Amino acid sequence: MSKIAVIGTGYVGLTTGACFAHIGHDVVCADIDETKIERLNAGEIPILEPGLDDLVRDGVAEGRLTFVVGAAVAAADCEFAYLCVPTPQGDDGAADLSYIEAAASEIAAVLPADAIVVNKSTVPVGSTHVVERALQRPDVKVVSNPEFLREGSAVHDFLNPDRVVIGTEDRSTAASVASLFLGLTAPVIVTDPASAETIKYAANSFLATKLSFVNAMAAVCEAVGADINDVVLGIGTDPRIGDQFLKPGPGWGGSCFPKDTQALVHIAESAGYDFGLLKGVITANVEQFELVVDKVEAMVGGSLEGVRVAAWGLTFKANTDDLRESPALAVIARLAGRGAKVAAFDPAIHKSVNGIRVVDSAYTAAEDADVVVVLTEWDEFKWLDFQKIADLMASPRVYDTRNIIDTAAVGKLGFDIKTLGRA
Ligand code: UDX
Repeated sequence: MSKIAVIGTGYVGLTTGACFAHIGHDVVCADIDETKIERLNAGEIPILEPGLDDLVRDGVAEGRLTFVVGAAVAAADCEFAYLCVPTPQGDDGAADLSYIEAAASEIAAVLPADAIVVNKSTVPVGSTHVVERALQRPDVKVVSNPEFLREGSAVHDFLNPDRVVIGTEDRSTAASVASLFLGLTAPVIVTDPASAETIKYAANSFLATKLSFVNAMAAVCEAVGADINDVVLGIGTDPRIGDQFLKPGPGWGGSCFPKDTQALVHIAESAGYDFGLLKGVITANVEQFELVVDKVEAMVGGSLEGVRVAAWGLTFKANTDDLRESPALAVIARLAGRGAKVAAFDPAIHKSVNGIRVVDSAYTAAEDADVVVVLTEWDEFKWLDFQKIADLMASPRVYDTRNIIDTAAVGKLGFDIKTLGRA
């Protein structure tokens, strides 16, 4: 079992640290945020991530997981240092590497001889060399090991990976990193650092492309009187297409897709390739927000001025409390921009966001509303008492952008219900 330092305790760092401790390694996680570290040592998890709290509590109780302030404290005695710090989108669309460089510089002086530094943050092609330069430690190998963790199932994804990608020119270093995953069953893909870094951007950009395609097909289905659910079923059974990641929605968001697609456009552009296809995918996503607002506007008679909208869902997807780049927020901002009065409810959000009025239940949001718009696919929205909702609303209308509401049952109660991609 190995000694691993994890630098950065966001979604990726905390999941990586807790899961490595769970499979038997000695892990020290570091962050610059003192309050966060105090809370983590007390067993408090700052994010909603199924299963993570148990792993953190077990790891701390069994002495295999500790939290410290400062990267250097964590890295002083490690064999592997995992860099899991943010790479936000800079003003020009490129990823901002300042956190990675700062973390690398901080640990450079204390890393034991022959330690291995592993980049898990999503970084532009060539960043392995950026870290090498910041470290100035020829004895230390730098490896790329991108993460493919979905929020809401990050622990499951870590412990049941589809693949482990290791980017290094050095075979024995690759074997050392691969040994950290012993006990997990997954193909290990060893490649050069540039290819490993590219794999991460290609995966997220391909998935975003799939979703923009499906959302565009939903618009086509509405126009020609087809049903997107059946179309998706019909194409998803072809193994070359696959049946996952094909659900239409109000657009895609989250902490990864928007910044990674923009970054790949930028990476390609800097290298002399105009990635028109991916630019189109990004544009189609913004158009999707507008299209949802157009549909709601049409449902209420052509103008949103003064219309009361109940927005169900604020997070970028269900089972997370993450609001970053949430399509729900993008749609609500546009509804409000056209004069609608929005009351929002989300099971994971209990305070006002971006000036939006956030209420404590789906029923409260529906009071006197002219239309309910379902924006996040929280399961509990399916099981509400729609008779009660009809009684509370000014007029019983639902626009379901996630196709989760039983249209037949709700229709029988007198609702005007429309769903995305179905005539
Ligand atoms: C993503 C990648 O899936 C993960 O592999 C990567 O490492 C990090 O980024 P995450 O950001 O957690 O994970 O979200 P994901 O579950 O992929 O969803 C992204 C967006 O696509 C969400 O807004 C979601 O609602 C939307 N989506 C997803 C759909 O609209 N339809 C789908 O079928 C799937």
